[in-house]
Amino acid sequence: MDHAVPLSHDQDNQQNDLPHKAAGGDSVRENNNNSSSAAQVAEHYNQRRQLGVQGRMHTKITGLRLFNNWIKSIMIRKFAYTGCRVLDLGCGKGGDLRKWAIAGISEYIGMDIAQTSVLQAQKRFEEMRNTQFSAHFFAQDCYADPLENTMRPSDYQADVISAQFCLHYAFETEKKARQMMHNVSSHLADGGVFICTIPNANWLVKRLKANHDGTRSFGNTVYCVDFAEDASRIKRFGTAYAFTLDEAVEDCTEYLVHMPTFIELAKEHGLELEYCRDFHNLFADHTNDHSSVELLRRMRVVDNDRPEISADEWEAVGIYLAVAFRKKS
Ligand SMILES: C[S@@+](CC[C@H](N)C(=O)[O-])C[C@H]1O[C@@H](n2cnc3c(N)ncnc32)[C@H](O)[C@@H]1O
Repeated sequence: MDHAVPLSHDQDNQQNDLPHKAAGGDSVRENNNNSSSAAQVAEHYNQRRQLGVQGRMHTKITGLRLFNNWIKSIMIRKFAYTGCRVLDLGCGKGGDLRKWAIAGISEYIGMDIAQTSVLQAQKRFEEMRNTQFSAHFFAQDCYADPLENTMRPSDYQADVISAQFCLHYAFETEKKARQMMHNVSSHLADGGVFICTIPNANWLVKRLKANHDGTRSFGNTVYCVDFAEDASRIKRFGTAYAFTLDEAVEDCTEYLVHMPTFIELAKEHGLELEYCRDFHNLFADHTNDHSSVELLRRMRVVDNDRPEISADEWEAVGIYLAVAFRKKS
């Protein structure tokens, strides 16, 4: 049974400001045994339009999308290496395939609960030129179901498992979070790394508590968070909030990733926390690194040295943490 718990894993919450522009300005096999909430998530992502490159460049959250892509590239640079084998849980439409190609990986497996997205990811891979790695895609609920149903651990051991902007769905229940952790641990090679980007529960709850009038929602022109319960009822699993991100997700139910619980579960499955940084601090860590700054330009996060991100988008990217766990060898 869940009890209200403190969120003790504190990040230093120093704000590092990226100067911003004015506000206001992104052969499939199926193994779906969806519970109704997971089915809703799958339906939600299946329905989403695939914006072309041009379409992604002209939305209210273009700066945020570009910045998040830069963060993922930095994490891939940090933890992937030439020849490594990758498992991408919640791969979506395959938006990270190019990043993995640049890292020089040898094998890629992408899984997602949304079958339409998986088909689009596969198509994207087939249309990529000069790929030096093999890729396979599966429609699979990575949190409710054992990956073994699709792929035995003896068939594939990844050096890097990646879960980008999707792990919050696993924290709906303890059962799902444990299944997710088992899936990761069983398919990660000894010494391999599990990288993810997740909403920072600490930040979200602090922000909720800052509402002195007792209201449970907050946000700005690009995002809105609406908690189902008040801050005294935070649990290790199943603390729900509705998340809206302009032109991306609307009123989508997400669950707090209670960091001490995540670390504890990972430990039980043989993984140790190696890296944890909120996006603002991760950015600040790289501002003196020439190649990371150059990547900001190449990925068009900055254009002619002018950042393409509004103040409201900058606040929204600050919600997230980049995290890495290492499996003991
Ligand atoms: C915000 S998108 C992120 C997609 C991709 N990782 C990226 O960074 O572009 C979240 C993804 O998580 C997937 N997802 C949600 N629940 C899932 C589950 N139980 N198993 C596998 N994928 C899931 C969704 O279908 C969606 O594609």
